[in-house]
Amino acid sequence: MPRPGPLVVFGVSHRQICDIAGIVFHVKRRSLLSGILGRSRAVTVAAPVSRETLTPMQDSETIGQIDDTPIGRAAQAAVRAMGRAGEGLPRPPATRVIVVANQKGGVGKTTSTVNMAASLALHGLRVLVIDLDPQGNASTALGIDHHAEVPSIYDVLVEGKPMADVVQPVVDVEGLFCVPATIDLAGAEIELVSLVARESRLQRAIAAYEQPLDYILIDCPPSLGLLTVNALVAGQEVLIPIQCEYYALEGLGQLLRNVELVRAHLNPTLHVSTILLTMYDARTRLAAQVAEEVRNHFAAEVLRTAIPRSVRISEAPSYGQTVLTYDPGSTGALSYLEAARELALRAVGLETPPSAVEQAAADALGAVGKHRHTIGAQSAPMAQHSTMEGNR
Ligand SMILES: Nc1ncnc2c1ncn2[C@@H]1O[C@H](COP(=O)(O)OP(=O)(O)O)[C@@H](O)[C@H]1O
Ligand SMILES: [Mg+2]
Repeated sequence: MPRPGPLVVFGVSHRQICDIAGIVFHVKRRSLLSGILGRSRAVTVAAPVSRETLTPMQDSETIGQIDDTPIGRAAQAAVRAMGRAGEGLPRPPATRVIVVANQKGGVGKTTSTVNMAASLALHGLRVLVIDLDPQGNASTALGIDHHAEVPSIYDVLVEGKPMADVVQPVVDVEGLFCVPATIDLAGAEIELVSLVARESRLQRAIAAYEQPLDYILIDCPPSLGLLTVNALVAGQEVLIPIQCEYYALEGLGQLLRNVELVRAHLNPTLHVSTILLTMYDARTRLAAQVAEEVRNHFAAEVLRTAIPRSVRISEAPSYGQTVLTYDPGSTGALSYLEAARELALRAVGLETPPSAVEQAAADALGAVGKHRHTIGAQSAPMAQHSTMEGNR
């Protein structure tokens, strides 16, 4: 019997083939994202979809075909849970400046910065990512060129260049912008020492930047030097990603002391508002124990959505993308969307309890532990795509 020939697919920019539980689906990525978010948005897709993709289907009919597999059930739950995302998210009354910090390397600072930022932007908010790490990983993940000649955050901090001169739009995600970091920034810690107002140069640059923004997320380097201090002076909130591994809390005391010092002497508005559990592996007891310990210490700050360990999340930066555009149906993308929703709702005191379906999806996504319940989310002033170019 002749073997079947290779399957040739045309028009892959908007169509993908994915293989879930042995069934091959054609997926219209544009429809998928708008299905999740309830809005139309062009998305450039760079890579094939893996088995990790939970929601490759366009409609409930197709979902029905894989309903009886664990992945299919998780996909359905996740899609339903995300249905609320289409309502938009509340715009904060003033720009929220969130410093993503943890002096440990490899805990998910950069990954969380770019994916939370993309999630907020996909909900219709205007978001700026400031890359404050000389490695420039956030710039890479957002597809922003950051070779040595590119105008960058170094020029802002050391040369006093206006931030408007270095901000770049992120191509795939409307409403998302980035201030890139180049290798020049590696010398900035030393160069800043002799400059006037060395701790508050970023704060001044942000204050002078007049474009309307809902969120500014600052991706810090893995140290507590002058760059991180600049971020802490510029922000109102600190978001600490904690990797669900042994030693997760080690070094946290030092970070909290630094936050306290900056709050006492330089920036009275600063506080740790959010803790995000990252690389959560639901199969291990260790991850559950670490998560529980962190939740016991920081009951009010920890988001109930934990970010699962996900191959798609780690692959996305090599395509210059966030996981939201790289594989919008993956567990990683859905968990960042949900975490961003929590972040946005908490700020206005409008967090709602998860529904049964949401809880099922959260379980599938690795969310664990306690919930903060507040009534009234339905009355939140929701950001709408059409109003984004408004007067803020
Ligand atoms: N949820 C996740 N699942 C799998 N890999 C992850 C996840 N979050 C981060 N990573 C990977 O872990 C590494 C460190 O993450 P990164 O965000 O760069 O940490 P940091 O900025 O704190 O140094 C990167 O290779 C990243 O792709
Ligand atoms: Mg980083």
